[in-house]
Amino acid sequence: MAKVVCVLYDDPVDGYPTSYARDDLPTVKDYPDGQTLPSPKAIDFKPGTLLGSVSGELGLRKYLESLGHELIVTSSKDGPDSELEKHLHDAEVIISQPFWPAYLTADRIARAPKLKLALTAGIGSDHVDLQAAIEHNVTVAEVTYSNSHSVAEHVVMMILALVRNYIPAYKWVIKGGWNIADCVERSYDLEGMHVGTVAAGRIGLRVMRMLKPFDVHLHYTDRQRLPLSVEEELNLTWHPTREELYSACDVITLNCPLHPETEHMINDKTLKLFKRGAYLINTARGKLCDRDAIVRALESGQLAGYAGDVWFPQPAPQDHPWRTMPYHGMTPHMSGTSLSAQARYAAGTREILECYFEGRPIRDEYLIVKGGALAGTGARSYSKGNATGGSEEAAKFKKIK
Ligand code: NAI
Repeated sequence: MAKVVCVLYDDPVDGYPTSYARDDLPTVKDYPDGQTLPSPKAIDFKPGTLLGSVSGELGLRKYLESLGHELIVTSSKDGPDSELEKHLHDAEVIISQPFWPAYLTADRIARAPKLKLALTAGIGSDHVDLQAAIEHNVTVAEVTYSNSHSVAEHVVMMILALVRNYIPAYKWVIKGGWNIADCVERSYDLEGMHVGTVAAGRIGLRVMRMLKPFDVHLHYTDRQRLPLSVEEELNLTWHPTREELYSACDVITLNCPLHPETEHMINDKTLKLFKRGAYLINTARGKLCDRDAIVRALESGQLAGYAGDVWFPQPAPQDHPWRTMPYHGMTPHMSGTSLSAQARYAAGTREILECYFEGRPIRDEYLIVKGGALAGTGARSYSKGNATGGSEEAAKFKKIK
C-alpha cells in the first residue's frame, strides 16, 4: 500500500468555513481547445467548498483510504524539522499546490527512494527539480488547464487595477477621504494602449481574447507561434523575441512557465528595454523576475506599476521587498485557487491518482516528466534543468494568526 503525502496551505485563521458566500458554482462544460475537464470516476467533495487547505484534503481521504493507502496531509513543508521531511523516506506520491509549494529539490528527491509520482494540484511544476525527477525516473504530472482561465481573469483585473490606480483610490475611501486629485494623478485609460504577453499558451491566449474588446493593441511572443487564423482574429502583433516585445508595449503580462530558459528573464538589463512607465503583471512565477531589479525599476519610475500573485520563495518571508515596494498590487499566490478552480484541480488530482493506482496512462496533456524525460505539456512548455535553487529561504516565513 502506498503512502501519499499531500502538502496544502493552512486553513483560514478563523477556522475551516462552515458556510460559503455562494451556494453553487456555474457549470463549465469544456475548455476552448477541446480538452475535456477532469473526469475521475467519482468525487467525494462538494464543488465550491474549500478543498485546497489542510482540512479540505482535496477531497481525497475517503478514496485513498478505501484502497488501503495512507494519506498524510500537512502544511509543514519547509526546513529540516518539517512534516514533509519526516515522510520523504517512504512517500510514494507527493501532492503539492504551487500556492504553497512543497519544494522537491534534488536533495529531497535523493532522500525519497520510493517516490514515483510528484503530482501538482494545479499548474506549474517548477517547485520540483525536473532534472532530478528525470534522473530518478519520478513522474511529474499537473492538472493542465484546471485554473488557466482563473489566472487570466486575475491578470485582466490586475492590469485594470494598476492602469486605473484602483488600489490607492480604494485606500482613500477606507481612510475617510475624498481625495480625487490624489486618486487620479496616476490614473489612465487602458483603451489604445499596447498590451503584450510573454507566452500565448492557455493563459496568455485567454488574456488576449478577454482584452480584445478594450480596443487595445495586442502583442505576443512565444516559442511556438499561434495559427495565422488566431493572429488575424485578434489582430495580434507577433514578436520573435521577448526583447522586441518589451520595447513595443505599455503593459506586459508574463504567462510562461519557470524553467532555466525563463528564470530571471526580467532583470536590470531587460527592464531598460521597457518603455518608461510600463506596467508589468506577473501571475506566472516570481522567479521569472530578478526581485531587486523590480524594486529598483519601480523606485526610478522605469515601471509605473507591478502586480501579480507569485513570489519566490513561497511563502514570501516577511522582509520580502515586494511587500513594501511602491506602486505594487501584489497578493499572496491566490489567482489559481479560487473555489471554482479548486473543484477542477481536485477532480483532476483524483483522476491522475485513479490512473496511477489502476495502472492506466495519465493523460498526455497532464504529463511534465515521464520515463526519464520531459513529456506531454512538459515537452512543449518546459526545458530540462532545475529552477528550485534558493527555495530553502521559504523556511524564513513566520505564520501570522
Ligand atoms: P501552457 O503550457 O498552456 O502555456 C505555456 C506557454 O509558455 C506555451 O505556449 C510555451 O510555448 C510558452 N513558453 C515556454 N517557454 C517559453 C519561452 N522560453 N519563451 C516564450 N514562451 C515560452 O500553460 P498555462 O496554462 O498558460 O500556464 C502558464 C504558467 O502560468 C504555468 O506554467 C504557471 O507557471 C503559471 N500559472 C500560475 C497560476 C497562478 O495561480 N498564479 C496558475 C496556473 C498557472
